[in-house]
Amino acid sequence: MKSLVAYYSRTNITKKLAEDIAKNVDADIEEIKPKVNYQGKIGYARGGKDAISEKIIDIEALEFDPDDYDVVYIGSPVWAGKASTPVISYLKQNEGKFKNVKFFMTAGGRGFETGLKQMEEYSIKPQNTLALLTKEVKKNEYSLDGFID
Ligand SMILES: Cc1cc2nc3c(=O)[nH]c(=O)nc-3n(C[C@H](O)[C@H](O)[C@H](O)COP(=O)(O)O)c2cc1C
Repeated sequence: MKSLVAYYSRTNITKKLAEDIAKNVDADIEEIKPKVNYQGKIGYARGGKDAISEKIIDIEALEFDPDDYDVVYIGSPVWAGKASTPVISYLKQNEGKFKNVKFFMTAGGRGFETGLKQMEEYSIKPQNTLALLTKEVKKNEYSLDGFID
């Protein structure tokens, strides 16, 4: 079974989870890199605005084609109760290429349900989902059992 982990991470929380998943399922790993700057305070505000308006942005060229994989694990932080703009843009750009997907999301507190629903709307129904709080990822207070099987 060929697996790909594709993720966006602004402050390395979702990245930590992505790397853990990739290691455990022996997957290729793709970091989604936006051509828009979402760093810093201005970037935070821009991120919230772009997420709310479901803006589609340009992302850097991809290393891997999701079409080549049996399953793609897709990871995003929650932005304003939605999935992050870079991940939505990745899904839109690769429409029709996913055979099976599993979603993982991190958030400070809330917005998982709406964020995961939006990811499904932009791709296909996931086989599985994993929603973790920022602090749980930071403190290693999570398990991938059941999610990666
Ligand atoms: C623009 C923006 C909007 C956010 N909106 C939410 C939100 O609606 N709910 C929430 O719990 N956390 C929200 N957060 C916090 C992130 O989801 C959380 O810190 C996440 O774990 C960050 O992951 P990352 O380091 O992979 O980017 C937001 C963060 C940003 C930058």
